[in-house]
Amino acid sequence: MPKRICTLGWDEYQALPLDEKITYLMQPDGNPYHTLFAQQFGLDLLTRLATLTNEIRAIAKSRNGTAFLSSLLAHKRAMLYFSQPSSRTFLSFASACQILGMPLGEVRDTAISSEFKGESREDSVRTFSSYYDLIIMRTPEKGLAERMAWVLSSSDRPIPIINAGSGQDQHPTQALLDVYTLLRSFEKTGGLPGKTIVFCGDLLRGRTVRSLSSLLLNYPGIRQIFVAPGPLQVGADVQEMLRARNVAFDLTDDLREAIRQSDAVYMTRIQDEWDNEKGESARIDTRRFTFGAGELALLPKDAVILHPLPRRDEIATVVDNDPRAMYWRQMRNGMWIRTALIAATFGCEKQINAYYRSE
Ligand code: NCD
Repeated sequence: MPKRICTLGWDEYQALPLDEKITYLMQPDGNPYHTLFAQQFGLDLLTRLATLTNEIRAIAKSRNGTAFLSSLLAHKRAMLYFSQPSSRTFLSFASACQILGMPLGEVRDTAISSEFKGESREDSVRTFSSYYDLIIMRTPEKGLAERMAWVLSSSDRPIPIINAGSGQDQHPTQALLDVYTLLRSFEKTGGLPGKTIVFCGDLLRGRTVRSLSSLLLNYPGIRQIFVAPGPLQVGADVQEMLRARNVAFDLTDDLREAIRQSDAVYMTRIQDEWDNEKGESARIDTRRFTFGAGELALLPKDAVILHPLPRRDEIATVVDNDPRAMYWRQMRNGMWIRTALIAATFGCEKQINAYYRSE
């Protein structure tokens, strides 16, 4: 690492602006060491990761290729520490590690770990680092993955952390797979720059929206349209970020009009697990923020529909078989780009590039 996060005290590190924090999280080759924020991924890195992902997919098609990939990190072990529900993120990271040959451990239920006996999270994470070489972590608490990255880097066994979702705040690897899906979707229609991306649903509390909105800043000319019921409209922090970068954006509650203008529609579910009081979300009228046959008829022919999943009823199942519905492919893309991220974190990028060229 060019600078090490542990050369600073926690309070000193915490006080840094995000741009400066990020310099402590990256490796000299431009890859992340700890992956905590979407803002760590600039255009060069995104382009390299997308290429690496394409190469990994191609290599994985043959038995020899699969054997090559699974030899790359057979000497490293990964720990999945998920103290919040997950299906896709957990399984796609587990699969990514398996593709690279990494043996896995997991803690998903802190009620059966020593945290239940009163062990601090700091001590838990240091314990994991005694046995593993990578921690992939999901938590309901904003900032906890970051704190743990600092704890580990300050310990005598510094190992990388990947944030697999932290509170309402960040979900950087979801944003990676979302951007990768958009890049692939627009391969034949002029690429991602200049496109109009519509976000719909619970934009206030959805961490995938916050991370993706920020990652899209890397591509010029993108317009972002946020469609939500008033109480769930995207937060002031996202709006300020877009304003500061002079990015065109609109806030609206008219999904149908937004669909007509879209190149991609990113649907999200209502995040009612964050309600301050029971039934708070249920009182919001969300009926106009769903995508069904009527909305499909308005969608431009080259536009695509994404969803981080899980869905409830915000996308009707009749939409699933439309060729513009990308959410199943998007999910599988997650496994491949997470494989690429882990490989890049552990310095395997050049080896994969060389194998791909030699085949
Ligand atoms: C998302 C999450 O956990 O933030 N799920 C996921 O990782 N694909 C979205 C959600 O839960 O709504």
